[in-house]
Amino acid sequence: MASSAMELSLLNPAMRGIAAKPLPSSGLPLARRSSVVRFRVSASAAAAPPKPSSSGPKKRGKTEIQETLLTPRFYTTDFDEMERLFNAEINKQLNQAEFDALLQEFKTDYNQTHFVRNPEFKEAADKMQGPLRQIFVEFLERSCTAEFSGFLLYKELGRRLKKTNPVVAEIFSLMSRDEARHAGFLNKGLSDFNLALDLGFLTKARKYTFFKPKFIFYATYLSEKIGYWRYITIFRHLKANPEYQVYPIFKYFENWCQDENRHGDFFSALLKAQPQFLNDWKAKLWSRFFCLSVYVTMYLNDCQRTTFYEGIGLDTKEFDMHVIIETNRTTARIFPAVLDVENPEFKRKLDRMVEINQKIIAIGESDDIPLVKNLKRIPHIAALVSEIIAAYLMPPIESGSVDFAEFEPQLVY
Ligand SMILES: [Fe+2]
Ligand SMILES: [Fe+2]
Repeated sequence: MASSAMELSLLNPAMRGIAAKPLPSSGLPLARRSSVVRFRVSASAAAAPPKPSSSGPKKRGKTEIQETLLTPRFYTTDFDEMERLFNAEINKQLNQAEFDALLQEFKTDYNQTHFVRNPEFKEAADKMQGPLRQIFVEFLERSCTAEFSGFLLYKELGRRLKKTNPVVAEIFSLMSRDEARHAGFLNKGLSDFNLALDLGFLTKARKYTFFKPKFIFYATYLSEKIGYWRYITIFRHLKANPEYQVYPIFKYFENWCQDENRHGDFFSALLKAQPQFLNDWKAKLWSRFFCLSVYVTMYLNDCQRTTFYEGIGLDTKEFDMHVIIETNRTTARIFPAVLDVENPEFKRKLDRMVEINQKIIAIGESDDIPLVKNLKRIPHIAALVSEIIAAYLMPPIESGSVDFAEFEPQLVY
């Protein structure tokens, strides 16, 4: 998974938080340092990123970062239902040959030797000062959490599906290998800033959000593809504008995003193997809903962090719209309906959501007592919800089946 992955809970009525259930220990080779970042769970709404401190960079001890509704989450699912879905005796739609081919691709392990660090990292981190340094640390923390979230989910799916469908199970395990690498590499990046995320602690202490398998498929497909588009867009931009190359991690994004692309393609194959998730009116409604959740969450998140994007020479909104449009075009190959994100009205709605969200954040940062804050938030939350509903109800684009007909004639239905 990638940096904006799995950040859906803002909008999803289908999710429910469940108490943290420690998953089996990961055996990850992830750094544990004396300075450990831990998460504090609070009930605040879409909060702003931490304010840059005027005292400049300093070595932090046990540091807390604030968790909000927009923080990347950890996910769990109904593993028994997953086992039924991937049982070849129950589900005759499973295209085992396609999964065998995908497995070979994952076994090739194109990026086995890709994630190797060099002294440039520490030097670049030391040069980074002021607000950019702080927002950069937050970028690394959030990205690492999102990648690690993918690692946990795929690792568990790999374990649980072993008996029912060893091929699909092995692919999940190999995807968890990739995500562990990504998370580990980002955590190493944090060590350049004298920090580290305590991922063992996170595994045990965080709440896991429950998604039914069907929603896991929609959500993870979108996360992987949007992750691909984010990474490749940043990579291409910095290649063309090397003066903004402030930290060497971006140089790794070209091969890295190919991992995310492969993960997305695997979920595409999984969805095709479960046509009941793609071929009715409910699938169309859910497809649009998940697209909207992912796009809105990314847009609101990124518009709170313009310092980061401007720091690497990007216009935040232009970058996000490019990523949304490309992700939507890719998604239209498999989802039965997508949003009309290229209609200028869609962006106008997103921009209004950003304005409203800023007002909600300002209330949160005021000196009012909590009751007054909550009362003041009500009209803005209502306005935000009504913008979201209006965006959802914009005429959608029917999609999906064209590509099925072109590339997978046996799967036309
Ligand atoms: Fe990843
Ligand atoms: Fe991924």
